[in-house]
Amino acid sequence: MDTMGTQQSEEALKHALSAPEWVEHEGLKQWVAEIARLTEPDAIHWCDGSAEEASRLCEQMEAAGTLRRLNPEKRPNSWLAWSDPDDVARVEDRTFICSERRDDAGPTNNWVAPDEMRATLSGLFQGCMRGRTMYVVPFSMGPLGSPIAHIGVEVTDSPYVVVNMRLMTRMGRAVYGVLGKDGFFVPCVHSVGKPLAAGEPDVSWPCNPTKYIVHYPESREIWSFGSGYGGNALLGKKCLALRIASTMGRDEGWLAEHMLILGVTSPEGKKKHVAAAFPSACGKTNFAMLIPPPAMKGWSVTTIGDDIAWIKPGADGRLYAINPEAGYFGVAPGTGYETNPNCMAALSENVIFTNVALTDDGDVWWEGMGPEPDHCIDWQGNDWTPGCGRKAAHPNARFTVAASQNPAIDPAWDDPAGVAIDAFVFGGRRSDTVPLVTEARDWEEGVYMAATMGSQTTAAAAGAQGIVRRDPFAMLPFCGYDMKQYFGHWLDLGRRLADSGAALPPIYCVNWFQKGDDGRFLWPGFGENMRVLGWMFRRMEGQGGGRGSLFGIVPDYADLTWDGLDFSPEDFARITRIDADAWRQELDSHAQWFRQLGSPLPQALLNVHGRLEAELA
Ligand code: GTP
Ligand code: SPV
Ligand code: MN
Repeated sequence: MDTMGTQQSEEALKHALSAPEWVEHEGLKQWVAEIARLTEPDAIHWCDGSAEEASRLCEQMEAAGTLRRLNPEKRPNSWLAWSDPDDVARVEDRTFICSERRDDAGPTNNWVAPDEMRATLSGLFQGCMRGRTMYVVPFSMGPLGSPIAHIGVEVTDSPYVVVNMRLMTRMGRAVYGVLGKDGFFVPCVHSVGKPLAAGEPDVSWPCNPTKYIVHYPESREIWSFGSGYGGNALLGKKCLALRIASTMGRDEGWLAEHMLILGVTSPEGKKKHVAAAFPSACGKTNFAMLIPPPAMKGWSVTTIGDDIAWIKPGADGRLYAINPEAGYFGVAPGTGYETNPNCMAALSENVIFTNVALTDDGDVWWEGMGPEPDHCIDWQGNDWTPGCGRKAAHPNARFTVAASQNPAIDPAWDDPAGVAIDAFVFGGRRSDTVPLVTEARDWEEGVYMAATMGSQTTAAAAGAQGIVRRDPFAMLPFCGYDMKQYFGHWLDLGRRLADSGAALPPIYCVNWFQKGDDGRFLWPGFGENMRVLGWMFRRMEGQGGGRGSLFGIVPDYADLTWDGLDFSPEDFARITRIDADAWRQELDSHAQWFRQLGSPLPQALLNVHGRLEAELA
């Protein structure tokens, strides 16, 4: 856009160029001016990230009906938002990787040629912020000023996004100090896509039925239109820290992964770090905050991250991981006093809740939190009573909270050097076939397990739920480039580390979600997952039994600690067995998945597949 539009945009342009004196980056000011010229906001606000700014915005949103203040006696400084019922989750079918070459996006991503997409978006963004304020949100993914951190700047017309970004990232004025006069930042443009005509009243959750979540991996840009929810709108998270960062990692030799990072300490006081990839709404937050059962005295778990890990090889040949985020945007339903007390403690104040229910005393409630209230107002504003046949909270209802409020936070969670990873875990939601836990016999088998991982889809994304789909490395919706290349990147990294003489971290495959004929989960899960983690820990120390099976090393009943849990050897046999018929089908479905990915698929994966088929035959 090189021509100036209306009087309005003249004003906006002036504002853009008269940024506060603490913004010294000319390139950034020019970019903000350019976006303002295109989107024509009424005003521009340069966010400083202060608590006062956040309070002001929340009060403003309260007046606009976007937020409701919760009872300060029950939930101090906390807010509730109810979204538009058509804007409740990530929109994978509207998410695009616009690389120059279609092949670089690969068969699992939606692709449109960058020029064509730019033309579409400039039409949509033209004047899309009229009647609204454009906020300029500077943020750091990773500790401020750390050599592994990356800076992004999101311009958005959503104050809800601003206050969430403040909890989820290191956001505010200090970022400009790091950026200086010409530092690199990832430009992120976001609009809810609902311009207001003069005098037109706003709605409580503005959005647009047309949605585009667009990434340009070569120029490292993000453009998001039409949604105000979660990963669609908080652009530091999935868009920057996974889709764009995964392409940076491919080019620079590191990994950006959909993984929690935890520290686990044994009764002898030895500590190890585990990075685990589970698909959306499959238990990362829960696992990262696990409280061991009382009978497993002396074991403890601390949280480094609950959703994203950036992992880089160190000079010593080990892999070091940081959590690029500063907060948790976690699934509310199923998170409760019984299942995740650490998380519940973290949620006691300073929280933004989205799409949970409002209780009669001005607090929040959701399915699985604890005792049912006799009455509440559901996430759509309707009366709710037990047995009414509707859910009180949307299944993808979320909380946003600063990581520092987690009582189990690891002392090193903020360390720019990261923590050395001792093991990787991959797990999907499978009601059958996949055993409770197996250990890959080598790196290539582990990469194969991760590459063929399947999971029942969840409410974290729009679309049909409960269908098993392949979700390699839990990265299907988040890999910014061709999945085959991504597998190759993992295999190369393993080879590189092995060549340098390093011992590679073992890789585990887990499944907490097998169901019995009555439809109930067979494994108690949650804190009891410590029993499986304890077995892994012992294996890492060269102890801990196990025997070979088709899909890696499985523990025997006696290899796990059972103190304080009534779980029979028969049930254990059932959830650790490899059923030959089911696995014949499973391997066929792996082959079909590989065909779907096309060629060239790394030979190592085809070799593992061949070996498994031969073993089964
Ligand atoms: P994203 O934030 O979407 O990436 O998801 P996440 O992997 O962090 O999911 P989270 O930990 O919030 O888990 C979501 C759901 O999984 C909740 O409904 C939990 O009740 C359920 N869940 C977590 N751990 C377990 C477990 O060990 N067993 C069972 N059966 N359910 C679990
Ligand atoms: C996920 O869906 O994996 C999430 C939530 O972590 S969102 O940020 O909305 O993508
Ligand atoms: Mn996630």
